[in-house]
Amino acid sequence: MTEMTPVTQEKTKAVPALPDAQTVTDVKHYTDRLFSFRCTRPASLRFRSGEFVMIGLMGDPHPETGKQKPLLRAYSIASPSWDEEMEFYSIKVPDGPLTSKLQHIKVGDEVILRPKPVGTLVHDALLPGQRLWFFATGTGFAPFASLLREPQTYEDYDEVIITHTCREVGELTYGRDLIESLKQDELLNDVIGDGFWKKIKYYPTTTREESPKMGRITDLMKSGEAFADLGVEPLNAETDRAMICGNLAFNLELKEMFEGYGLEEGANSKPAHYVVEKAFLD
Ligand SMILES: Cc1cc2nc3c(=O)[nH]c(=O)nc-3n(C[C@H](O)[C@H](O)[C@H](O)COP(=O)(O)OP(=O)(O)OC[C@H]3O[C@@H](n4cnc5c(N)ncnc54)[C@H](O)[C@@H]3O)c2cc1C
Ligand SMILES: NC(=O)c1ccc[n+]([C@@H]2O[C@H](COP(=O)([O-])OP(=O)(O)OC[C@H]3O[C@@H](n4cnc5c(N)ncnc54)[C@H](OP(=O)(O)O)[C@@H]3O)[C@@H](O)[C@H]2O)c1
Repeated sequence: MTEMTPVTQEKTKAVPALPDAQTVTDVKHYTDRLFSFRCTRPASLRFRSGEFVMIGLMGDPHPETGKQKPLLRAYSIASPSWDEEMEFYSIKVPDGPLTSKLQHIKVGDEVILRPKPVGTLVHDALLPGQRLWFFATGTGFAPFASLLREPQTYEDYDEVIITHTCREVGELTYGRDLIESLKQDELLNDVIGDGFWKKIKYYPTTTREESPKMGRITDLMKSGEAFADLGVEPLNAETDRAMICGNLAFNLELKEMFEGYGLEEGANSKPAHYVVEKAFLD
């Protein structure tokens, strides 16, 4: 008699081809230099909104041994800590070792995600305050995409101001769409409170393509134009807290300005008035 497989028997689970593999569930391209993707979340991964992890793909086989090593880079987690999936917002560097490949991922592909979150752009590194500022250039928006969807952001602050400076208008799309989506997000409006998004003031600027607000945010703050547009006073240590994520020159320029306003840099171990993280090494 032929043995039949019991109908209740589970199908064999697919064995991941990569270590720490997660499966891509969504990919969106914004410009020829920017895309975002979502993937499954490791069951054991806990992180704080604003942190980053190492992600990547397997590198090319070694020409002699044929061995492959993981090619990993730091990436801010763009999704909030409560999300059941992970989201990332990425540059496409034409000859970049990782992103020249990563930009071609499709739904169902696997990426490597090392489940060791770290970072300074976390609520724990700031003292209590009334107004929270997020300052981003380019993909530096990513950690703020996480924090803008984090209930604690609105529980802890009366007002949230996000500035995003990019070269071109198309580079603002990911951030603009995300902020717009908060208005329709029934879950967040239920959890945080209806109309929580009214606490957000969004200040996008471009530097190399015409848009309603042109210029580097640093220059717009120095001239006072940004504060006049937003209807707020310049930052001060009593009421304002800030997080910075951009290119190195931007981070350094803002740090110098903040010290001038009397703000002190904080860390996980010593909360203060502002925190900084590089959006990329250079
Ligand atoms: C803490 C931290 C968090 C990061 N988070 C993100 C993120 O959320 N999204 C993201 O796209 N990248 C992020 N990066 C940069 C990322 O680690 C890689 O550098 C990037 O993915 C490019 O990898 P690559 O191997 O293709 O090129 P690399 O060899 O790593 O970089 C090549 C060159 O491209 C430029 N470059 C690299 N990354 C960027 C960028 N994001 N924006 C503009 N120019 C860049 C730099 O000039 C760099 O020297 C982060 C870096 C750090 C240190
Ligand atoms: N974005 C593009 O279209 C593009 C195209 C080809 C290649 N690249 C290369 O990709 C890399 C990253 O480009 P990116 O545009 O993502 O990032 P980026 O060069 O860091 O610029 C992002 C934004 O930050 C602004 N900025 C730079 N320094 C600043 C400072 N000190 N204070 C305030 N604002 C500051 C830039 O203004 P400014 O414009 O005034 O510098 C720009 O609006 C660069 O090496 C670039 O050569 C970019």
